[in-house]
Amino acid sequence: MAESPTLGLLSRSVRARRGRLAASVVLALVSAAAGIVTPLLIARILGVIGGAGGDVVWPVAQLVVIVLAGAFAGGWSSYLLSAAGERAIEDVRLAVVRRAVRLRVPVIRRIGVGEVVSRMGPDAAQMRAITDTGVTVMPVSAVMVTAYLIVMGILDWVMLAVTVGTFVVAAIAIRAFLAGMRRAAEAQQAALGRLAQAAQSVFTMVTTVKAYRAEDRAIAPLEDEIGEAAASAVRSARAQAAISPLMGLGQQVAIIGVLAVGGVRLASGALETTAFIAFLMYLFQLVNPLMALAQGAGRIAVGKAAARRVDEVLGAETEPAGAARTPEVAPGAPALRLSDVEVSLGGKPVLDRVSLEVPRTGVLAIVGPSGAGKSTLLNVVEGFVETEAGRVELLGVPLQEWPTAEVRRRVALVEQGSAILSMSVRENLALGRSDSPSDDELWSALRDVGLEQAVRALPAGLDAVLGAGDQMSGGEEQRLSIARALLIDAEVLLLDEPTAHMDGVNERRLTDLLAALGRDRAVVMVTHRLSTVAAADTIVVVDAGRVTAVGDHGTLSSASPAYQAFVHAQAAPDPVGA
Ligand SMILES: Nc1ncnc2c1ncn2[C@@H]1O[C@H](COP(=O)(O)OP(=O)(O)OP(=O)(O)O)[C@@H](O)[C@H]1O
Ligand SMILES: [Mg+2]
Repeated sequence: MAESPTLGLLSRSVRARRGRLAASVVLALVSAAAGIVTPLLIARILGVIGGAGGDVVWPVAQLVVIVLAGAFAGGWSSYLLSAAGERAIEDVRLAVVRRAVRLRVPVIRRIGVGEVVSRMGPDAAQMRAITDTGVTVMPVSAVMVTAYLIVMGILDWVMLAVTVGTFVVAAIAIRAFLAGMRRAAEAQQAALGRLAQAAQSVFTMVTTVKAYRAEDRAIAPLEDEIGEAAASAVRSARAQAAISPLMGLGQQVAIIGVLAVGGVRLASGALETTAFIAFLMYLFQLVNPLMALAQGAGRIAVGKAAARRVDEVLGAETEPAGAARTPEVAPGAPALRLSDVEVSLGGKPVLDRVSLEVPRTGVLAIVGPSGAGKSTLLNVVEGFVETEAGRVELLGVPLQEWPTAEVRRRVALVEQGSAILSMSVRENLALGRSDSPSDDELWSALRDVGLEQAVRALPAGLDAVLGAGDQMSGGEEQRLSIARALLIDAEVLLLDEPTAHMDGVNERRLTDLLAALGRDRAVVMVTHRLSTVAAADTIVVVDAGRVTAVGDHGTLSSASPAYQAFVHAQAAPDPVGA
């Protein structure tokens, strides 16, 4: 149990509700005891009516009370059990969502976003079986079966032997079907996970799908997974459908056997009629806890298979919290220093012995062809990719000697492309803040990136929810991401192609803003725009994962062929009529 974090979590969840679960078990036992006593009372009443004589009112009154108490206890028990099961599901979902968001970035990418979501949805829902069935239904049913068998043995051990023999044969057959049911359930869970993963990709890109009239092709993998999920569910249903008839068959055979054996024993006088009737009633009732055991075993197997899937998230590696305390910053150290950093992604070398210093102040531009490794370089600083070799220092201290949260407080990243969450403008802007910035502060950041008018034009202004009712243009979203970074007032500002979607006015405004910010902090910017590059204090040329030149516009223009090629390509007039 210890090696599965999910089962560990469930056992804690059960322990936290042990009072209610114990009450549920006691109530279930009360209900079971009522079930066990009922046939004896009925047999006694029949005996009285049948001529044995005696008071009939008292046993009938007893019967009524016991039947009512049994029904009430049974209902209450099942309510308590369901409630505990639902709370266990809640615990699993909370644990998954809290853990998943803290996993290392490569781990989240490896598992897949849709797959993570499926762990919170259908997989967590299966956990209920482990709590309700495992904790109460199974033990209570086992106690009931034992009690029935004892009472039946006391009534007549020969008929008991016939009964047990028959049900053992039925149980062996049922076991084989349970194994099939478990395999089918595992296949179904896997298919639902892949479905969530595929659906996530199609529906986030739904406009692209439509633009290319690819609706049918895009959903083909989804249809396959839906088909696979259904096929495994049908296989599971087939196996499950066999359980009840097998149990029924066992019961029928047992009844025939008991009637035959009992008949002989009645005739020989070894058995009383009332005992015979009581035995038969027990035999009819015995099938209920036996069914509960068989179906419970199936549900638990399915739940454990889901628990193994949830383990993939709960057991995966989270981001290291880093050092406990903020280190002493080395005076005069550069903002960032990368020494011989090597990164491979998907088995492919992406950064090759990259060494680079980012001064404490000023604007540093990174240029290079697409796929050169520029974004990867920024991701290294944030700890989003694994470095295979080399050293990364922030303010003279290696990254691993910093608390991770402190690194991210001091380094602000504006990612390539849109990075807007479906929250309000205000929440998007304040994402990096632990306090609530004032409206003035928010408007000032929006003004800095030229977004004030656009947000004022939204009916709900700062409280407009993006992605739900209100949408922004690609360039506006990008500027909102920049405003968000400005609001954490970081010592190092990393921007990945911030001007990619900007018009000339906004580009000019951003270049001026970054130059101003560079007076008291380090601004690192990946960009293809010559005008922005030329204005930078330092330019770093990256090509095929290597730093090929470092200098300012003047020196690189004369000394670096790679930079000359970049300038030439950017400055070349657009081919006309091509
Ligand atoms: N998760 C990943 N798995 C495998 N390869 C990756 C991964 N991320 C990036 N790469 C590869 O690493 C190389 C560098 O990617 P990177 O995003 O750093 O390039 P870039 O210089 O930012 O390019 P661009 O200018 O197009 O944004 C590319 O060849 C890319 O295919
Ligand atoms: Mg990039």
